[in-house]
Amino acid sequence: MRKNIKDTTFFGYQTVSKEEKNHLVTEVFNSVASKYDLMNNIMSFGLHHVWKRLAVQCSGVRPGQYVLDLAGGTGDLTEQFSYLVGETGVVILADINSSMLKIGRDKLRNKGIISNVLFIQTNAEVLPFPDNIFDCISIGFGLRNITEIHQALTSMLRVLKIGGRLLVLEFSTPQCVILSKIFNFYSFQVLPQLGSIFAQDSQSYRYLAESIHIHPDQETLKHLMTDIGFCNTTYQNIMGGVVALHRGFKF
Ligand SMILES: C[S@@+](CC[C@H](N)C(=O)[O-])C[C@H]1O[C@@H](n2cnc3c(N)ncnc32)[C@H](O)[C@@H]1O
Repeated sequence: MRKNIKDTTFFGYQTVSKEEKNHLVTEVFNSVASKYDLMNNIMSFGLHHVWKRLAVQCSGVRPGQYVLDLAGGTGDLTEQFSYLVGETGVVILADINSSMLKIGRDKLRNKGIISNVLFIQTNAEVLPFPDNIFDCISIGFGLRNITEIHQALTSMLRVLKIGGRLLVLEFSTPQCVILSKIFNFYSFQVLPQLGSIFAQDSQSYRYLAESIHIHPDQETLKHLMTDIGFCNTTYQNIMGGVVALHRGFKF
């Protein structure tokens, strides 16, 4: 039977049903969870910590506030936010994948971060929170993996407080041809090899490269956020656009 185009989406370069994509993304993160932090450090030469710190610095989060770290995985952003909100605030680390959540929970508990962090397994497309409760929502390297991006961003807007902000940290489109060529070579030729050597899994890292390549560029994501209802939407290129930090407010 022919697939209805509305029921299909992309998993990397493959066209799959939406249901299949959810299943394949779950398999990827089940497979990489135990080596996720190690691989991030190797693949980015530790730079992902710098990108995440920059995102947190741009968040404007203050003591006592409520933060949602969506697709939070192993909790790097959650950790930084937990220091900012302090004992009177709350950070919720939410992720669809139980393996990633477990690694994140164990890591944060080992660091003694427990009192102001909650862990929730949920799909970003249908957030199980009341309207207008978060001062800030972050989604770091997660948006690209979500099947219904429009639905997920709409859900984020609903649960943000008036005056609250969304931060989207994601791989993006390098802004010069030479950098783009280097980045493409690195992501398609080197990353799968690194995955094979250090995690015995080249497939997941091939998906990583493909999903980065088909993710909307900076302007497209900015317009999507604006169309959905985010205000004052801006972005900042990091490393020439290899990564971008988008910000949008709810007014
Ligand atoms: C590349 S990891 C990013 C983890 C973390 N934010 C970081 O920056 O290190 C992507 C995360 O998105 C999660 N994810 C994928 N689809 C999701 C969805 N629909 N809802 C919530 N989380 C999702 C995955 O389980 C995974 O933990």
